[in-house]
Amino acid sequence: KTGLNPVLLPLEWLLGTWESDEPGEGCFPTIKPFRYTETLNFSHVGQPVINFMFNAFHAESKKPLHRECGFIRLQSGTNRVAFIIAQNSGLVEIEEGELTGKQLNLQTHALARISFAKEPHVQQISRVFQLRPDGRLEQTVSMATDNQPLMTQHLHITYRRS
Ligand code: HEM
Repeated sequence: KTGLNPVLLPLEWLLGTWESDEPGEGCFPTIKPFRYTETLNFSHVGQPVINFMFNAFHAESKKPLHRECGFIRLQSGTNRVAFIIAQNSGLVEIEEGELTGKQLNLQTHALARISFAKEPHVQQISRVFQLRPDGRLEQTVSMATDNQPLMTQHLHITYRRS
């Protein structure tokens, strides 16, 4: 097994596969609330980079819905973190933020989308990942869109290690 690059030690707690323990909750002022399940995978190949895949499904029909994949980088010797993300909705994004203990706080730093992406367009995203004392991982995502310029929660979910 390839050794962990020491730059990644502060994020070692994130590595592995996580599955939603109970369905996550999706909401936004402009949509019908929904429930979803999600599997997260964080891996490495010895580089100072984490590779990730997030795959979400409709909680009842189990149909695949949202998918994201990308890379996580830590600025060596600091608590600065960058997520480089591609989403199946046609969005590409860089989120940056800080690692504080076992919590990651991220915000959109750059965002682009395919020319025929569905509207309304998202304009800003923020998310928090937190490893809870009970060993569960929690993710909360807020966003602002063309129609909803105030940052508003879209997703909340907890995962357990699988
Ligand atoms: C709706 C963005 C993650 C499920 C939306 C909308 C946007 C959006 C802009 C349209 C809101 C409106 O009509 O006013 C995002 C972004 C995500 C994300 C930027 C990640 C950072 C997810 C995930 C799921 C999900 C993980 C899980 C299944 C949905 C559903 C709707 C929706 C079911 C409502 C129906 C639809 O418009 O397709 N999302 N979303 N989203 N999102 Fe997300």
